[in-house]
Amino acid sequence: MRLLIIGSGGREHALAWRFHRAGHTVFCAPGNGGTAKEGVNIAIADDDIPALVQFARDKSIDLVVPGPELPLTLGITDAMKEAGIRCFGPDRYCAQLEGSKSFAKDVMKRSGVPTAPFEVFSSLDQAETFIRKQGAPLVIKADGLAAGKGVIIAQSEKEALDAVRMILKEKAFGNAGSQVVIERFLCGEEVSLLAFCSGEQAVPLPSAQDHKAAFDGDTGPNTGGMGAYSPAPVLPDTDLERISDLVIRPILHCMAKDGHPYTGILYAGLMMTEDGPMVLEYNVRFGDPECQPLLMRLETDPAEIMMACIEHNLDAIPLSIRQESALGVVIVADGYPGKYPKGMEIHGLEEADTTDNITVFQAGTVRDGNLTKTNGGRILCVTALGKDLEEAQKRAYNTLPLIDIKQTRYRTDIGQKGLRRS
Ligand code: AMP
Ligand code: GLY
Repeated sequence: MRLLIIGSGGREHALAWRFHRAGHTVFCAPGNGGTAKEGVNIAIADDDIPALVQFARDKSIDLVVPGPELPLTLGITDAMKEAGIRCFGPDRYCAQLEGSKSFAKDVMKRSGVPTAPFEVFSSLDQAETFIRKQGAPLVIKADGLAAGKGVIIAQSEKEALDAVRMILKEKAFGNAGSQVVIERFLCGEEVSLLAFCSGEQAVPLPSAQDHKAAFDGDTGPNTGGMGAYSPAPVLPDTDLERISDLVIRPILHCMAKDGHPYTGILYAGLMMTEDGPMVLEYNVRFGDPECQPLLMRLETDPAEIMMACIEHNLDAIPLSIRQESALGVVIVADGYPGKYPKGMEIHGLEEADTTDNITVFQAGTVRDGNLTKTNGGRILCVTALGKDLEEAQKRAYNTLPLIDIKQTRYRTDIGQKGLRRS
């Protein structure tokens, strides 16, 4: 097949790597240093929907695979469909599950999915009154896409009041903050459940756990993800169907009832609380970096599964998953997720990537002649397979010293939470 991947992160390199291995022709817009090894990079931005449609048409693309949420929330699936091109992802209506927190919470409520109790406000006065009545801790969320910065965990009433003022009055997130969701703070361990979805059918992938905090011990600011592993012992394979019935299939039913059957990956971000799993958020795409360990484990060609989702033929493709664990550690530029340097040379990629058990996925990288240089905050995700989580962790961390990039760092405790449980 001729495939067009949209995006430029580690997730997109993992998709390109897996598609290339399965013998497909891969284009990636705009791509990175990693996707350039697996196929052809095309200089079109991920939000330039008309140019992407034109390219897909000109190059007779069989399947478009958007990586990030932005093109999905902008309606790329609808636009491709109109042009007669298959696109693996939900339509613009369903993409609101990620694009609008209030939409997602409303769908959860209508579907009976367990989630934190919440209220939605556009009036600052009313939000302030509610906060004073509830007291802390509370979680304040800007309604729209805010590049991962729109969620504030307020431990005190003052922090909560400051957060709603920043969002609703000072418009810190622009239009994304015209409404806020205020919800109860939940305690527990977080885990991600991703499923291939086709209408009302869902086939879950094994669980994965992301590490969002910048520093060891889950401290420091929130990032796009510092590492991930699969499976996460907190959500074992034996629970996948039961939890999918609880948090994935009711949403698919609701979307179908609304006249918008869901196609694509549905990703439930869960908090495993004392009262059972609760949904923190939905994403309408693969997670980054969860995608990297998950695709190391997926033996079935993902393009076949995606095509089957679109053709409503998901039953016909049994998912084959390697029994091994996979774990990825992200190397980031110093300063990330704040200001960080770019343009550092990357050395040791070939030395690191020598066996089938290790793959170095590239994210913020760019080819410059014979060199690969850094071009973003999250640079590489060194991902390893092992017979269990411990071996995967050991392999990944033994590989990291082979890679030499100035002004970078990584967390040294990816997978520790899982090891404590296994
Ligand atoms: P979200 O974008 O909604 O997933 O929120 C980002 C992060 O904020 C999550 O991964 C959690 O770590 C945290 N979070 C969100 N909602 C809650 C909540 N109700 N209770 C505790 N932590 C939360
Ligand atoms: N790793 C979390 C996300 O992709 O949103």
